[in-house]
Amino acid sequence: MPAGAALRWSCTTGDGEWNAGRDRSGNRTANTVSDTGQAGAARSPRCVTLAPVTGTVLVLGGRSEIGLEVARRLAPGSTVVLAARRSADLDDEERELRAAGAAAVDRVEFDADDVARHREVLDGVLARHGRLDTVVVAFGILGEQARAERDVAHALAIVHTDYVAHVSVLTHLAQLLREQAGGTGRGGDLVVFSSVAGARVRRANYVYGSAKAGLDGFASGLADALHGSGVRLLLVRPGFVIGRMTAGMSPAPLSSTPAQVAAATVAALRAGRGEVWVPAALQPVFAGLRHLPRALWRRMPR
Ligand SMILES: NC(=O)c1ccc[n+]([C@@H]2O[C@H](COP(=O)([O-])OP(=O)(O)OC[C@H]3O[C@@H](n4cnc5c(N)ncnc54)[C@H](OP(=O)(O)O)[C@@H]3O)[C@@H](O)[C@H]2O)c1
Repeated sequence: MPAGAALRWSCTTGDGEWNAGRDRSGNRTANTVSDTGQAGAARSPRCVTLAPVTGTVLVLGGRSEIGLEVARRLAPGSTVVLAARRSADLDDEERELRAAGAAAVDRVEFDADDVARHREVLDGVLARHGRLDTVVVAFGILGEQARAERDVAHALAIVHTDYVAHVSVLTHLAQLLREQAGGTGRGGDLVVFSSVAGARVRRANYVYGSAKAGLDGFASGLADALHGSGVRLLLVRPGFVIGRMTAGMSPAPLSSTPAQVAAATVAALRAGRGEVWVPAALQPVFAGLRHLPRALWRRMPR
């Protein structure tokens, strides 16, 4: 095992998945069952040992709560690159990742809205670190639905960040990781955050929801285009996440926390899955909701 790497395993119960691990001293690490609120579960989970996680992890939107939780779980033995606006102001995030076992933490200035600079930023990271093993695309804005219905500039800003900027950066990343794969089959992993808001767009948040619907479709098609290239794309569909993005809002049914989303994301990444809903129960729920009559659907809350 490479120096600094942690042992990892993935566990599954009937209710969901999480990642757990042991540090180099053999102690159970913090990102375990408590992340999913299952600490007291009496079920005997099925666990498989996973390869140690090392390499370069790039987080686009390096201050994202979910992105950082994912990075923390991938940190042991890895170099983590945080790409964010105001990158000089990431001391807390860097400290947290080093405490989680990151071999190194780098920062890069990144404004997702400045699509003309995407390639330059990515080339810069590659030049500094040689390769990208996992790229977590975690930037995004919720915006204000009521304002977006009146203010065209605000509606366009939401769609630009949550859809257009994703199309741009993912297209660059797909090319770069394909080249990186060469004939080796080791192109790297892309993690993309869609949302149930895009699974069937609701009247109550149709601007953000439409951007997520577009992103979901784009990322699904891109994942198929990458099939067999050595580059994998994991599409994550969280429901309502209790955190900074939704501060002040009442949690919807089946909500989760950034830690739970990250635990499910990393478990899916390690298992080589292409999609994960968080929590898993949202998938059958939305399969049913898809067929709800429009007259009822338009009354659905956010
Ligand atoms: N939270 C939820 O309920 C929820 C549910 C489903 C899906 N998701 C998706 O999950 C992803 C992560 O969300 P989160 O919960 O971690 O939200 P978060 O904590 O609010 O993080 C979003 C990050 O995106 C960054 N960002 C926004 N615009 C940017 C830009 N133009 N350039 C660079 N960075 C930019 C923000 O950076 P600054 O710090 O510079 O503002 C912020 O750190 C998003 O795609 C979100 O849509 C979230």
